[in-house]
Formats: sequence, structure tokens, C-alpha cells
Amino acid sequence: MINKKSKNLSNKKMIEEIIRVDHAGEYGATKIYAGQLAIFGEESETGKQIKNMADQEQEHIETFNRLMVEKRVRPTALMPVWNIAGYLLGVSTALMGKKAAMACTVAVEDVIGKHYEKQAKALGRKDPKLKKIILKFRDDELEHHDIGIENDAEKAIGYTLLSKIIKSGCKTAIAISKKI
Ligand SMILES: [Fe+2]
Ligand SMILES: [Fe+2]
Repeated sequence: MINKKSKNLSNKKMIEEIIRVDHAGEYGATKIYAGQLAIFGEESETGKQIKNMADQEQEHIETFNRLMVEKRVRPTALMPVWNIAGYLLGVSTALMGKKAAMACTVAVEDVIGKHYEKQAKALGRKDPKLKKIILKFRDDELEHHDIGIENDAEKAIGYTLLSKIIKSGCKTAIAISKKI
């Protein structure tokens, strides 16, 4: 009985962590693209491609907004930080040019795609509704990743270093947002 209760508690905690961190990540993603769109404008060729991805991120964040209310999960306290950090990342990569902006997408989506994959595995047979959402979003993120590759992300100047910095930033953000 006690075991069952503590198991339910830890399941609940796991699901809360998943929703909190994914909400934070999707929020950050919308900010990155907003920053890039501020530089490229929505009417340029690159802007249009980014806008398509940004629209999907908007759907993602709205889904997690709803889930937070439904499951009474509080957002990470670091939302203001991710707001600024995401936007600055978007603006700065866009200022470096289209390839760097795409390299940013490739790096972010690589981390997020794997992150969703890991969450889906961890959920196992728990919360199939949430799992379905996560797997759908994983597919969307991997599509964004591929769009970045198709748009010469890997030809960005300093691609390897840029990619490393962004990936480690994302991983740190994920680790922190689970807890705080
Ligand atoms: Fe997303
Ligand atoms: Fe994405």
C-alpha cells in the first residue's frame, strides 16, 4: 500500500517534471524564432521558412500551457531567463547570417528531439496521452532539424563550435528547468 502510494507520487513527480521542462523548452523555442524573425523579417525567404517552424512551436507551447492547467503544474521560475536567453540566441545567430540561424535550429532540435525520445521511453506505458503528444512533437522537431540541414546549416562559419555551445546551453537549460 505504502509502496503503491510512493510509486504514484514518483510517477506524478515525473510527469510534472516532464511538463515543466517541455513547457520551458517550447517557450524558449518560440523566443529563439521570434529573435530570428526580428532580424530576417517574416517576408524574406528565410523569414518564411522560420515562420513555418515558429508556428509549430506556437502550437507546442499552447499544448503545454493547456497541460499545465489540466495537471496543475507550475511553470519553471526561470521563464524570464529563458525569454531573454532564447531571444538573444535567436537575434545573435540571425545576425551571423542565414546559415548560422539554421545551425542554431539544427543544434537545438537535435537536443530537443533526443530529449523527447528519452521522455517517451521513460514514460513507458504511463500517461499514453502525454506520450503521444511528446512523440508527435519529437517528429516536428526532427523535421525542423532537417530543414536546418537542407538550408546549409553545416556550412555556417564556425559550425562545430557554434553547435557545441548551443547544445550545451540547451542541455543546461533542460537540467535546470526540471528542478527550479
Ligand atoms: Fe517545439
Ligand atoms: Fe522545434
